[in-house]
Amino acid sequence: MHPEHSSDVLVVGGGIIGLVTAWRAAQHGLATALADPSPGGGAAQVAAGMLAAVTELHYGEETLLGLNLASAARYPDFAAELEEASGQETGYRSCGTLAVALDADDRAHLKELHALQQRCGLGSEWLTGRECRRLEPMLAPGVRGGLRVDGDHQIDPRRLAKALVAACERAGVTVHRTRVDRLAVVRDRAAGAVLADGTELAADQVVLAAGSLSGRLSGVPEEAVPPVRPVKGQVVRLTVPPAYAPFLSRTVRAVVRGSHVYLVPRENGELVVGATSEELGWDTTVTAGGVYQLLRDAHELVPGITELTLTETRAGLRPGSPDNAPLLGPTELPGLMLATGHYRNGVLLTPITGDVLAHTLVTGELPEEARPFTPRRFSPVRQESSA
Ligand code: GLY
Repeated sequence: MHPEHSSDVLVVGGGIIGLVTAWRAAQHGLATALADPSPGGGAAQVAAGMLAAVTELHYGEETLLGLNLASAARYPDFAAELEEASGQETGYRSCGTLAVALDADDRAHLKELHALQQRCGLGSEWLTGRECRRLEPMLAPGVRGGLRVDGDHQIDPRRLAKALVAACERAGVTVHRTRVDRLAVVRDRAAGAVLADGTELAADQVVLAAGSLSGRLSGVPEEAVPPVRPVKGQVVRLTVPPAYAPFLSRTVRAVVRGSHVYLVPRENGELVVGATSEELGWDTTVTAGGVYQLLRDAHELVPGITELTLTETRAGLRPGSPDNAPLLGPTELPGLMLATGHYRNGVLLTPITGDVLAHTLVTGELPEEARPFTPRRFSPVRQESSA
């Protein structure tokens, strides 16, 4: 390599995960660079921003639950610190969530979720349909019951991303607004990256945080390629006219005929309705079927949405991993770390990912709470030797 720039850390990818990693690394005194053609873009431009550790709990994901809860607990301080550091608002809102059931099957599903939440010691209260409507009068008369989860909040991911870009710049992160062409490997060690315009960036440590694209970076040896795949999510944005406000006071969600639907109300009148979950490779088209499904299911929950203004439809790609949990920390290639594979929890896991990666970059060791999420859990070499 004949690098024009050199740093302690180079972060490849400027979505919210790459940005928080760069911000925290710079705060720890590491000379940090980040490369992305459009910092602050990516899945955060589509995501609704639910911080739903409790209402998105799934069987078999209790280890991930621990990480999700730890990150949720950090959110109030994280948002306040970021707002101070960036001079921008993040839209963090401690509004709680109501997960409701519309028919007998949904109710049975929600009862199971409630039992699991109770076994995990989580705060969640069963309400009758009438109690749900008392909390949220716009709910359909047919709502048969629900779970009140006062600890599941929200943030505006677009404002979060913008604030993180500003915080990075203020903290001295060098931002290269160019696509990364390939990882540079020198003597079997990650040594930086080459940008699409030919610029060479040298770094002692490289963090690959390119969301669903993380498995596609050229130059990464096979044993270190992260097993992430794109999982498409379509989202609709509506606006509540002032005459209808307050339309909903908290996030409302349900499983309707097996599909998740959620309505996330912002204080500024935006109402985000999401999200489909589709395994369609790199396709990001918004389809009539996707929008129809979202509006049909949301309308069953809250019939009044038909009065709202339709402002945007959009699709993004979640970085799915084989066990739905993120990949954090060192890979089989010395000098290369991962911060990717956050799947449905990228926004929720932003605070803890920044802390975990900064700790690991400084000390070389994953902190205790992140050890189950080492990328090496998918390493064929490890699996063979532990068999
Ligand atoms: N966590 C919400 C989603 O992935 O749709």
